[in-house]
Amino acid sequence: MTRSEQLLQLHEKCNAECECKLKETATRPVFGDGNPDTKIVFIGEAPGKKEDETGVPFVGAAGKFLAEMLASIGMKREDIYITNIVKYRPPNNRDPEEHEKKECAAWLHEELGFIKPDVIIFLGRHSMTHFLPELKISEAHGKLVHRKIPNFPTEWFFPLYHPAAALYNGGMRETLMMDFKKIPKVLEKIQESKK
Ligand code: URA
Repeated sequence: MTRSEQLLQLHEKCNAECECKLKETATRPVFGDGNPDTKIVFIGEAPGKKEDETGVPFVGAAGKFLAEMLASIGMKREDIYITNIVKYRPPNNRDPEEHEKKECAAWLHEELGFIKPDVIIFLGRHSMTHFLPELKISEAHGKLVHRKIPNFPTEWFFPLYHPAAALYNGGMRETLMMDFKKIPKVLEKIQESKK
C-alpha cells in the first residue's frame, strides 16, 4: 500500500469513529489533502461551503488566497499537506465550538502522527489555541515557536492569521502576506536545528 493509500484508510477509519455532531448537518467529511511525505503541515479551522461540496480543504476564496501566497514563496499545494482541526462544516460557517474541536482532535492527532511534520503552520487562532492555548494570535502571528509536547511528533509551530479573516481586511492581509514570506527562513532555521 502507498503512503497516500494508508492515509486514506486512516481518514476513513477516523471518520467512522468520530462522534462530532456536525457530521449530521455536513454534506460530507473533509479529509486533509496534499503530500503525505511533506515536512510542512498547515492546519485551518473548519470546512466552508465549497469544501463541504467538494470534500477538499481550502478550495474556496481563502484557498485561492492561500495558493497565491504559496506561489509567492515558490511552493505549491502539492509540496505541503493541509487539513483542518474540525472535519465537518459548521452550519452557516459559524465558529466551531470547543467540544467540536475536541471531538475532531483525535483524528487530527492521528493524521499528524502519520505525517510527522517538522513544522505545523496554524491558519488562525482555532488550530493554534488547541496546541498552544496560552497564545493570542494578534501577538503570536509570524513568530516561530519551539515547544516539546509529550508524545507529539512536532516541536516547531508557526502561527499565521487565517486567510479568510485577512481576505477583506487590508491591514491584516498585508501582515499575513509579510508573515508568509518568512516561511522559507523558518524552514531553514528548523533544518539547521536538526544538524
Ligand atoms: N477555512 C478553513 O479553515 N478551512 C477550509 O478548509 C476552508 C476555509
